[in-house]
Amino acid sequence: MSFRAGPSVFKDPGKLSFDYLPDKLVHREKQTQRLFSLLRPIVEAGASSNAFLYGAVGTGKTHTAKRFCLDFRKYASESDRAVDWDVVNCRQRMGDDAVLLRLLQHFDPHFPERGFSIAEKMESLRKHLEKHKLHFIVILDEVDALLKKSGADLIYSFARIAEEGTATKGNISMILISQRPNALEYMDPAALSTFRRSNVVEFPRYDRTELEDIVQGRVALAMHPGTVDDDLINLIADIASEFGDARYAIELLEKAGMLADEERAEEVAAEHVRGAKSHVHPIDVEERLGLLDVPKKLVLLSIARKSRKKAYITMGEAEEAYAVVCEEYNEKPRAHTQFWKYVKELDALGLVDTKLSGKGEVGKTTLISLPEIPAKVLADNLERSLKRR
Ligand SMILES: Nc1ncnc2c1ncn2[C@@H]1O[C@H](COP(=O)(O)OP(=O)(O)O)[C@@H](O)[C@H]1O
Ligand SMILES: [Mg+2]
Repeated sequence: MSFRAGPSVFKDPGKLSFDYLPDKLVHREKQTQRLFSLLRPIVEAGASSNAFLYGAVGTGKTHTAKRFCLDFRKYASESDRAVDWDVVNCRQRMGDDAVLLRLLQHFDPHFPERGFSIAEKMESLRKHLEKHKLHFIVILDEVDALLKKSGADLIYSFARIAEEGTATKGNISMILISQRPNALEYMDPAALSTFRRSNVVEFPRYDRTELEDIVQGRVALAMHPGTVDDDLINLIADIASEFGDARYAIELLEKAGMLADEERAEEVAAEHVRGAKSHVHPIDVEERLGLLDVPKKLVLLSIARKSRKKAYITMGEAEEAYAVVCEEYNEKPRAHTQFWKYVKELDALGLVDTKLSGKGEVGKTTLISLPEIPAKVLADNLERSLKRR
């Protein structure tokens, strides 16, 4: 077989990838400036400060925080302050042990995965900071996953280092990020007070014109001139404005370009954008589900199936569906306590929500709902990936 490398509408497709960090995030000047006011004591006094960023998916929280830290490190070095930073996605690194290990590996890439307690790891991190007289900004992204799984102990420990920290001993500051404005409710009031209301930075959904500017920027970076008409930028912004999600808008652009290339078209057309819409989902379902092992996929599939017609299902209903799903996929169903644990872990991952039914004292039961991804999308996706095994 021979490949024909036809012309492409893409000049630099990497600029559309998830990893590409823009030099500047348009329409996030206010948030960036607030972050600067919150964290400038780091440079001015070596003092620790924290910030809590929240907003819906695709509102630029992760990239604004990263961009800020890159620029802030440079700004600090001009005043001879050693600032470094790292980010951990707490959904991908479950639990405080894994999060801490990841942070240690920032300084020591070969730090062993096993054999050290949390206290020992913490001490080792502290020594690194002291040795380099470093102010370390830790970004805990999707922090609600950490709080649900392990509680706030790790955050308390960082706060204790910060209490004793000085410019000569090294110090720590934290930027916590979540989609949920109430994510920090899991912390006790004392710890919560270090994240006072004034340290909160809100990331609102982007409106149509803001998305237009974001897409416009990516077109200039990634696409050949003349391949994407302004009308199409409008169309993409229109579609994405329903969710206010920049990632969705950028993915629509990328997919539309790919469809144009497949047809060997010289420019992207409205039909390509419409076609892209049916391929790209506003929430990156595959990425989210890719993190799950088979037992959790089976549990989530049963919840998804039962949730097709109801907003809330009971734990009992979920387990009923689970028995059927396990039979279908030839897996042995896990016992009730294990099932319950899986549901809790799915909750920590933000894939399901659980709450106690409010009805009376007797017969209280856990109710499960799907906060983000529609039941059908979930079920289809899980069925496909379970069959592919
Ligand atoms: N204001 C912006 N300007 C340019 N690109 C943006 C902007 N906001 C978000 N993006 C892009 O959209 C995608 C999603 O942003 P991200 O920071 O991951 O959102 P969140 O963490 O809020 O889900 C990234 O590719 C990011 O570069
Ligand atoms: Mg993010």
